[in-house]
Amino acid sequence: MNTIDNLTNLKGKKVLVRVDFNVPLKGSEVRDDNRVVQALPTIKKLLSEGARLVLMSHLGKIKWGKVDDEEIAKEKAKNNMEYVLPVLQKHLEGVNVYFSPETSGEALAEHVNALKDGEVLLVQNTRYEKGESKNNPDLAKDWAKNVDVFVMDAFGSAHRAHASTYGVPEVLKAEGKPVALGYLMEKEVKNLGACVKGDTHPYVAILAGLKVSDKIKVIDSLLNKCDHILIGGAMAYTFYKALGLPTANCIVEDDQLDYAKKCYESGKIVLPCDSVAADSLDNPTKIVTIPSDVTKGGEGFPEGTLGLDIGPESVKLFENYIKSAKLIFWNGPVGVFEKDEFAAGTKAICKAITENKDAFTVIGGGDSAAAAKQFGYADKFSHVSTGGGASLEMIENDGHLPGIDIIG
Ligand code: 3PG
Repeated sequence: MNTIDNLTNLKGKKVLVRVDFNVPLKGSEVRDDNRVVQALPTIKKLLSEGARLVLMSHLGKIKWGKVDDEEIAKEKAKNNMEYVLPVLQKHLEGVNVYFSPETSGEALAEHVNALKDGEVLLVQNTRYEKGESKNNPDLAKDWAKNVDVFVMDAFGSAHRAHASTYGVPEVLKAEGKPVALGYLMEKEVKNLGACVKGDTHPYVAILAGLKVSDKIKVIDSLLNKCDHILIGGAMAYTFYKALGLPTANCIVEDDQLDYAKKCYESGKIVLPCDSVAADSLDNPTKIVTIPSDVTKGGEGFPEGTLGLDIGPESVKLFENYIKSAKLIFWNGPVGVFEKDEFAAGTKAICKAITENKDAFTVIGGGDSAAAAKQFGYADKFSHVSTGGGASLEMIENDGHLPGIDIIG
């Protein structure tokens, strides 16, 4: 791997580090600083070599499409990278950390050129630039001209071929300048690599979440690698309907029924055999556990109910697969874990996975990582990825992501 360990003579060099500081915010407060913490080993290593660091990241989504200037200004205010500055400063005590409100042009160049050895400049949200997500070549050139070296450490954004993740290293490489992966990227690629290769068996994937349609490519890929795929969350209800089980008010994707049926016929899909159902998610007045074993003519969901978690028998069923696995990839909570009434399934899955000490256990980012953290299991997994979309795409594309491939 082409990592920062291969970089030499960094003293006095201006190094652009693409980090993923797309952190969850509550107003102006950073709710979880994990992504900042995960970037620190790379930042500290480069600082120890005397480099001058320019840190760039997107934060949230800015919808440039149909909105007027006022709406864009509101979106920008909501996704202001300056909210992350005090968090970064706290973690880099003793280091001068500055902020550039400007995201391009002469003003940004001036901030970069004012840096001294061992200092850091955090730049405003890259998505304040309309050209970022479009990988605009002029924007990439503008960013590249300020620096001598590019380091990619934004695993969570490595599936995006944007100006800051792809355009800049492309320009610098063409100029013969060094580009490298940071330590977080190295760790993610190595650990997720086990799930991409899938040569350890039994290999069990747990896939859940709202939509089958979001996971088609990863299901296709995992069907070729895994021994079993355990399905939870609302995704399971699309499978139920495809197999003829009454689904009442459950969230179902009618346009994915044929696909779900085809997947089920692979023989590798394991569906929950009971479900926790309620009359409402927000104000449940009646919560019942219903048998939903499709193979044994389960009753299905009573009129007026929707499924919100897997039931206790499904937990036992899933535990059996989890117990004997040697490699486990988990993406998506199996129930609405944010609500106590529907959290038991997801909590039990966390517990079961972490009790299997013989397995290499990986969480593919996103909500499952948040659930593991909430239930106190996060540090018991072999690896918790910082990228949800990126880890899924890495598996789908056999280890290839634009932000990795461009570094070479
Ligand atoms: C993430 O949180 O998944 C990454 O930061 C990528 O964000 P994006 O989906 O807005 O590109």
